[in-house]
Amino acid sequence: MEEVLLAENIYKSFPGVQAVDQVSLRLYRGEILALVGENGAGKSTLTQILGGAQKPDSGRIFLEGREVSFNSPQDAIQAGISMVFQELSLVSSLSVAENLFANRQPVGRLDNIRWRKLYRDTREFLSRFDQHLDPRQPVKQLSMGQQQILEILKAISTGPKVLILDEPTSSLTESEVAYLFKNLRKLQAEGMSIIYITHKLSEIFQIASRVVVMRDGRYITDRKVSEVSESDLVATMVGRQITNLYGERSRPAHAEDYFRVENLTRKSSFEGITFGLKRGEILGLAGLVGAGRTEVARAIVGIDPRDSGRITLDGEEIHIARPQDAIARKIVYLTEDRKGQGLFLSMPVRDNLIAPSLKRFTRRFDFLNAEAIDHFAHEMVARYSIATPSIDKKLLNLSGGNQQKCMIAMWMGIEPKVVIFDEPTRGVDVGARAEIYQKLREISSQGAGIILISSDLPELIGMCDRILVMHQGRIQGEVQREDFSEELILSYAAGLNGAARAGQVQ
Ligand SMILES: Nc1ncnc2c1ncn2[C@@H]1O[C@H](COP(=O)(O)OP(=O)(O)OP(=O)(O)O)[C@@H](O)[C@H]1O
Ligand SMILES: [Mg+2]
Repeated sequence: MEEVLLAENIYKSFPGVQAVDQVSLRLYRGEILALVGENGAGKSTLTQILGGAQKPDSGRIFLEGREVSFNSPQDAIQAGISMVFQELSLVSSLSVAENLFANRQPVGRLDNIRWRKLYRDTREFLSRFDQHLDPRQPVKQLSMGQQQILEILKAISTGPKVLILDEPTSSLTESEVAYLFKNLRKLQAEGMSIIYITHKLSEIFQIASRVVVMRDGRYITDRKVSEVSESDLVATMVGRQITNLYGERSRPAHAEDYFRVENLTRKSSFEGITFGLKRGEILGLAGLVGAGRTEVARAIVGIDPRDSGRITLDGEEIHIARPQDAIARKIVYLTEDRKGQGLFLSMPVRDNLIAPSLKRFTRRFDFLNAEAIDHFAHEMVARYSIATPSIDKKLLNLSGGNQQKCMIAMWMGIEPKVVIFDEPTRGVDVGARAEIYQKLREISSQGAGIILISSDLPELIGMCDRILVMHQGRIQGEVQREDFSEELILSYAAGLNGAARAGQVQ
């Protein structure tokens, strides 16, 4: 097999962490290589070095036998390595075409952008990949999945020899994932080499031929996919066996609804949403991306307005017009978009952890009690096993799973009564997942009701007592734990299985 890329003894440290510790990696022509490891294992850092976004402290990179060194992603693209980063980098106010051809728009003699040609080229390129987006459409109007696909197509459009995808499917629907895999196989057959980072281990068995495992910045092993099992991989990734990922409930949920949503409607997104929640219950909200699950959550907590509907807590109607009203009632929403809305990424871990509980730390005359704050932050870091060298570290520099744990810790600090989790384990490794599930169990056993929005069916089935399935803005079906099956949930999600629930039909 012909070697396309060789990375030799790559080393990179940040204050307090050896992110990549003497890792070597080979990539062959036309190969899809999976790169896996727990949150913070160094996958993104290593590949960002290959993709020109970071400089290694030491080590060498060879592309087709020639040594290369990059000062920017642009340099790497020129040399033939194109990378899709873990975080989306499209400019949301610009159009599809402007994003796709950023920095390389067709220009006329006077350096003016040739818009007609830009739109035509865009349409032509997208249609080669069976995409029929309007080139003029602003990116912000696209779904997260469409944005992700566009981002990947943008990387492909530079015609790279090596394509690096860092968790490309974390916001894709199942059909979008199938679409992506079909195209990756096509590119692979044409000789493109691909490094594929994922936390969804089942994907490895569908798409990759070889898998490299990293742990704590180090290279652990390199195996043929046909020769490993999923549980082997998990054990090498986390260095221990994980049994019973979802855990068990420690006490039954109460019998009565204490929180009720009645006829909640926001005409543009959903209609007639009615359900109850019991203390200690974990209620799943399933549905395809776009079914309106996140929109319902946002309306409940007052981020988006609603057209009608009633919410009661402990038998009393409550009025939530703004997010602060929900927080005051101890109803919290942990967003799926932790980068955009959930966290203060450029601020230290400490400041994030205490943000919603600030009131507790104000002494008379509004002075903050610094010592108590540090104490609280340290306790949260320990209790939620957040891997960070210190509470002063900016959140931005923590791995995805650790950012997620921070978000959970920060909201649990206010001791909520109702917790809505939106995709809590997206981009989170198996070890951290097990910990997050255990936290959900703890929160519910302390008497809070949990609404779990997830696109991961095994997760819903493993965690929930009951699942509501949404389809096109309505609750299409309700499934009790004893009847859980992927088939039944998927058929409701697809709008099948007949009538909506009683009381939902308008
Ligand atoms: N810019 C940075 N400054 C400081 N520390 C960083 C920076 N980038 C990454 N780190 C640290 O380096 C280590 C490796 O992080 P990296 O993002 O490469 O992990 P990962 O394997 O991609 O994790 P995940 O699966 O969560 O995406 C982590 O401990 C992280 O906190
Ligand atoms: Mg990463």
